[in-house]
Formats: sequence, C-alpha cells, structure tokens
Amino acid sequence: MATVISFSIFKGGTGKTTSAVNTAACLAELGKRVLLVDLDQQASSTRYVNIDPDQVNPSFYHVFLKQTPASIVKKHTTFGFDILPSSSLMAAIEESLEPGDEILLRDILKPLQDEYDYILVDSPPGKAGLAFNAIVAADLLLIPASAERMAIDGVSDLINHVQAIIWHKFRTELGKQEIRILFTMYKAGTNHSPGIVQATRKIYGGNVLDILIPETIEFPRSFDHKMPLIHLAPHHAGSDAYRSVANWIVNHA
Ligand SMILES: Nc1ncnc2c1ncn2[C@@H]1O[C@H](COP(=O)(O)OP(=O)(O)O)[C@@H](O)[C@H]1O
Ligand SMILES: [Mg+2]
Repeated sequence: MATVISFSIFKGGTGKTTSAVNTAACLAELGKRVLLVDLDQQASSTRYVNIDPDQVNPSFYHVFLKQTPASIVKKHTTFGFDILPSSSLMAAIEESLEPGDEILLRDILKPLQDEYDYILVDSPPGKAGLAFNAIVAADLLLIPASAERMAIDGVSDLINHVQAIIWHKFRTELGKQEIRILFTMYKAGTNHSPGIVQATRKIYGGNVLDILIPETIEFPRSFDHKMPLIHLAPHHAGSDAYRSVANWIVNHA
C-alpha cells in the first residue's frame, strides 16, 4: 500500500513543486516506486520533468471525470518515477467541484496504491477544491514553508484550516493523518532564517523537520533544465537536502 504525501500550503511560491519533484527523484534513487501527481493547472511539476502539458491527452481532467483510469494517463519520466501530468483543463475540474468532492482524489488514487510505494501530490496554492483534494488524499501532509518573514502565518493558516475544518469533516478517513513542516529557501549565515525556524519550532515542536532546504539558484536552474537537481548537480548541497527528505520519509513512513 502506497503512502500518500501531499505538498500542501495555501500560499504560493514556497517550494511545493520544487519539493515534490526533487523528493520524488530522491525516493526513486532509493529504489522506491513513486508516482507524482500534478494537481496544479500551472503544470509546473509536469514541465519540470520535461512533459509538455499541452500535449497530454487524455489527461488528469478525464481521470477526474471518471472517463479514463489513472493507469492510462500516467507517464514514465526519465528520472525513475511516474507522473500523472496536469493540463490546462485542470481549471475546468476546479470549476466543476462541489462541496463533498474533496474526497475524489483519494478515491482515484486507491486503485494505484499497490503499484507504488509512495504517491506524492503537488498541490495548487489557494483555498480551492483541488488543494482540498490534495489534503484529504494524504496520509502525510508536508508543508513547505519558505524561511522568510511571513512563514509562520502561512503554516498556521494551513494547519488551523486542516485541523478545524478538514479533520472534522473527514474524521473517519483522516484519523491517522500526520503533518510535518519542511523549511525551504533557508539562508544560512544570516540571523533571519534560523530565527524563523526557531520561532516555528516553539509553536509546532517536533512537527518541524530538522532538514533545512538551502536557498540556492540551483533549484530555479534545475527547473530551467527540466531535471531534478540530483540529476543536474548530484553532489550539490541542495541535492543532499532532498535526499535527506527522502531518507526521512522511508524511515518514518
Ligand atoms: N530552495 C530554493 N532556493 C531557491 N529557489 C527556490 C528554492 N525552492 C524553490 N525555489 C524557486 O522558487 C520559486 C517557487 O518555487 P515553487 O517550488 O514553484 O513553489 P510553489 O510550488 O509553492 O509555488 C521557483 O522559481 C523555484 O525554482
Ligand atoms: Mg507549485
């Protein structure tokens, strides 16, 4: 049975996509069977692994409408893991979602559970239907927070919403859901980033991972090269940071 891990936070630009793609690559490097699900209509994960979202047909849209099984839509990447690619039609799914539909993704992923060790979900930003689907599908919520000023606000917004509303509504399904915070864009050598991590630990304690993803231009560069950082710069500290995330996942889940 696969463990489903969603990279979720309502805020944009905090490293959801970067973390999902690079963690997927590192889990694959460990020999794990990994599926990455791109739920964002921006299709950043899909582009990151060098798949053109405009050429994907049938796409996740058809899976969501239950017209096509996910097993037909998923694609192999050249990085040792599979992807359920996004497409521009994701916007239409968002339009069609109604209250109660937050559970759709969880049901869609069920038939894939035996094929994979880990299913990673790259969530869109914002408080909308697909982002809620990512949360409800997850055994583990990994919250990527950029180590800058407003980090705690973004983290508490997500955690409060999940605990007060989503856990309440899906009590049976989410009884064992776990939450961890992963700091990204960490600037060593300043007082700023360490201060933010410390302040967040005061509130969320052991839910803050010890691993810190460094801020480095290598991540945008790896996106431009359309390959995870372990394939572009295998010995870079940023590569090792996501290897640590993958190791933590394997040892924890
Ligand atoms: N650790 C990092 N250091 C520097 N830039 C990063 C880092 N992580 C992500 N980025 C860059 O920040 C931008 C937003 O990251 P992204 O993963 O797309 O966030 P999200 O999916 O949450 O919107 C991208 O340009 C990405 O390349
Ligand atoms: Mg993203």
